Amino acid sequence: METNRKVTLTYNEGKDTLDLPVLGGTLGPDVVDIRAFSKTGMFTFDPGFLATASCESKITFIDGDQGQLYYRGYPIEQLAEESDYLETCYILMYGELPTPEEKKQFQHTIMHHTMVHEQLTSFFKGFRRDSHPMAMMVGVVGALSAFYQDSLDISNPEHRKVAMYRLISKIPTIAAMCYRYSIGAPFMYPRNDLSYTANFMHMMFATPCENYEPNPVLVQALDRILILHADHEQNASTSTVRLAGSSGANPFACIAAGIACLWGPAHGGANEAVLKMLDEIGDESNIEEFIQGVKDKRYRLMGFGHRVYKNMDPRASIMRRTCHDVLSELGLQDDPKFKLAMRLEKIALEDPYFVERKLYPNVDFYSGIVLSALGIPVSMFTVIFALARTVGWISHWNEMISDPQQKIGRPRQLYTGAGRRDYVPVDKR
Ligand code: CMC
Repeated sequence: METNRKVTLTYNEGKDTLDLPVLGGTLGPDVVDIRAFSKTGMFTFDPGFLATASCESKITFIDGDQGQLYYRGYPIEQLAEESDYLETCYILMYGELPTPEEKKQFQHTIMHHTMVHEQLTSFFKGFRRDSHPMAMMVGVVGALSAFYQDSLDISNPEHRKVAMYRLISKIPTIAAMCYRYSIGAPFMYPRNDLSYTANFMHMMFATPCENYEPNPVLVQALDRILILHADHEQNASTSTVRLAGSSGANPFACIAAGIACLWGPAHGGANEAVLKMLDEIGDESNIEEFIQGVKDKRYRLMGFGHRVYKNMDPRASIMRRTCHDVLSELGLQDDPKFKLAMRLEKIALEDPYFVERKLYPNVDFYSGIVLSALGIPVSMFTVIFALARTVGWISHWNEMISDPQQKIGRPRQLYTGAGRRDYVPVDKR
C-alpha cells in the first residue's frame, strides 16, 4: 500500500535527486520501492537479501524481534495447540479458516489422492539403495511432472489447484517411499481411514506382515512438527521456488528446486546436523571443549541462530514443550543424548558469546531430538521438513502466478571480473 511518505535519494555528487515511494504493509516494517532506482544508472547491492523485500505476500508474517510468527494472521502458538496440519494447509492455501464442511471436504480430497502412479515405484529402482532420502526426494518430486502431465498449464487456475492438491496428498507417500527404499523394505500403500500424519507414520513403520498402531501422543507431536514447518515467509527455499516459478516452470519442477535448496545445512539440513553434532560431542564432559571450538569459529553450534529471529524462535518454544512431552511418553527423559542436548542448551543460553550475538535455539534444535525419539532416522529429518514445507512453497508459488504483475525474477550484479581483453590463440600463449 502506498503511503504519503517518500525517501529522497541524492546522488551524482548532490546534483540529482530521486524520490522513492515508501510502501506500508499490514504489519512489519515499511519498504522503500526502489523500482525507479535504475534511472540513476546504478543498481542496489544486497547479497543475501539482508535489506531487501523480494515480493509482496499475504501468507506469512514474522516479527523477528518479538519472536512472532503468523500464518494468514493466525499466531503459530494457536495453530500448534488447537489446529491440525491439514487444516493449516487449508489456511495457508486459501487464506481463511475452513467451515466444518470445507474442512471435511478438504481432508477427504487430500486423503483420497495419496496414492502415486504405480510406475513411480520402478522409478525408485534406478537409485542405489544407499542413496540419501533427500537425493531421491529431489529426483522423484521433479519426476512428477512426467507422471501428471494433465495439470501443468500454470495459466489455468484449475490445473494449479489440481497440482497443489496432488503435491500435498502425495508428498508423504513419496517421503515414506524414500525411507523404505533406503532400508530395502517394501513400500506400504496409504490408508485413507487414518489422519494425514498417522497415515504417514503407517507408511513409514507398518509392514505387510504386521499392522502399525500409531500412538496418538506421537502422532500429535509429528503433526505439530509439520504445522511449525509449514511456512516461513521468504526463506531460501521458498525464494528458490518463487524464482524457479517466475520463469513459468511447472509446479513439480519448482518444488523439486525448493527441496534442493532446503537440503543445505544452513537451512533444512540443520535438524540432521544437530543430531550429528550431539553424536560428535558424545558426552557432557566434552561440551566445554566443543563450545570453545564454536567461539574460535571452527564450526557452528547447529540448531542455534536465525537470520530473522533475534529473540526466541517461537517455533522453538513450542517444540521444546513437545520434546518434553514425547520423551516422557516414551520414558526417555534420562536418554543420554537428550540430557546432553539440554545441557548444551543451558550453557549456550547463559554464555555471553551466544547472548551477545542473540543466538537462541531455533526450531531445529528440538525437532531433531523429537524426530529421533519417534524412531525416525536422522537421514529422514530434512525429508520431513520438505514434506511439511510443500504447502508453504506451493501457496507462495500460486500467489505469485496469480499476480497479474508477476515478472521473471532477474537480479543484476556487481561485476568484479576481468575487464575487456582480447582472445589469444593457443599457439601464441
Ligand atoms: N553458531 C555459532 N555462531 C553463530 C551461529 C551458530 N549457529 N550462527 C551465527 N553465529 C555467529 C556468527 O559467527 C557471527 O558472529 P560474528 O558477529 O562474531 O562474526 C554472528 O553470529 C552472526 O552470524 P551470521 O552468519 O551473520 O548470521 P546469519 O543471519 O547469516 O545466519 C544462520 C543465520 C541460521 C545461517 C546461522 O545462525 C547458522 O548457521 N545457524 C546454524 C544452522 C541452523 O541451525 N540453521 C537452521 C535455521 S532454522 C531453520 C530454517 O528456518 O531453515
